[in-house]
Order: sequence, then structure tokens, then C-alpha cells
Amino acid sequence: MELIFATHNRHKLQEAAAIAGASCVVFGLDHVGCSEEIEETGETLQANARIKAEYVFQKYQVNCFADDTGLEVEALGGRPGVYSARYAGEHCSFQDNIRKLLVELDGATNRKACFKTVIHLILNGQHYEFEGRVDGIILPEQHGTEGFGYDPVFMPDGFNVTFAEMSEYDKNAISHRGRAMRKMINFLQTL
Ligand code: IMP
Repeated sequence: MELIFATHNRHKLQEAAAIAGASCVVFGLDHVGCSEEIEETGETLQANARIKAEYVFQKYQVNCFADDTGLEVEALGGRPGVYSARYAGEHCSFQDNIRKLLVELDGATNRKACFKTVIHLILNGQHYEFEGRVDGIILPEQHGTEGFGYDPVFMPDGFNVTFAEMSEYDKNAISHRGRAMRKMINFLQTL
């Protein structure tokens, strides 16, 4: 089976392809010639994942899925959440977001956070949703160079390294997106 992952993020694509293994072939948006950014105009992860998947399905008529992820920080009342990508402003970099997060959490004793991912799959016109979550803490400084986004400051519970210090394989085994992806792959294998 072939699925288009509605993303331009090569890290996400690589993670998804690794998790899917031989069970299905995952291509990015380039594969269908889609170069535009699909705007995330929803107010929830569910809405954004659905918007992106529907955009691709309606325009290209292919089986596809999209994800949306949010980092929820307890001491910030769940922020940045659905706004994680634009936390430090429109067109900000991963580093801008991390810097803002560390400033907001400066001196905080409660550093608990979680990543949540929602995947929206459209298969033969039917809609399905899968969720994954990982809990951890936000470190006061950055460690590691792997991964992307908030990885250098997120240390998952039960580990003493950040996501950015883990191999892709180890991160996938416990990450929010890894968990949601495996739920989707397991579902596809039941068909
Ligand atoms: P989106 O799902 O690409 O919209 O992700 C929203 C924000 O969360 C972006 O700023 C990403 O960098 C960040 N993010 C998504 N997935 C991960 C991850 O696996 N590790 C670290 N940050 C992530």
C-alpha cells in the first residue's frame, strides 16, 4: 500500500517511513508535486490534522494522512499546544521557539510537559483518527543535535537523555508520533 504523508518535514517523513517499514510505502508531498504549505487554521490538533489530510485528498485523490503535534507544558496551562509551531511568532525557527520556552520556564520548578500527536488518515474516502502521547520534562538547557523542533529540551519520563540525544529508532519507539503511527499501521494491517 502507498500513502502520502501531508508533510514537507523530512524528519517526520523519515520517522514515518521507518515505523511503517515494509508494511506500507510512505511518500511526502513532493511525490504528488505539492510544494505549497498547507495552512493550519484549526484550533485543535484534530482539526489541523483533518484540514491537511482533506486538502491533499481533495486536490490529488490519493490515500493520505496528516499529523499535527502539540507540546503541552503544565506550568504554562497547556501552552503552546496547538500553537507549538508558531509559539515565538509567524515564521519563527525551532531555536526561536526553544528560547521562548526556556525564558517562560525560567525558575519554574514544575517542568512537566507532554507531546501529543493526532493523525488523520483518509483511506478510500473513509476517515480515521489515531492519537499518541509521551510525557516528560523540559530541561533548562539544550542537549543533543538529533531530531528537530523541541527535541533538545524534551526529556521523556524514564530516560536521562533528551529526544535530541536519542537515535531515531529509540525516539520512534516511545514518541508521540511513533505511538500514533504504530496505531495507524496496526489498523492498516487488519484490513
Ligand atoms: P507540527 O505537527 O509540525 O505542526 O508540529 C508543531 C510543532 O511541534 C513544531 O514546532 C514542531 O517542531 C514541534 N514538533 C512536532 N513534532 C515534534 C517532535 O517529534 N519533537 C520535537 N518537536 C516536535
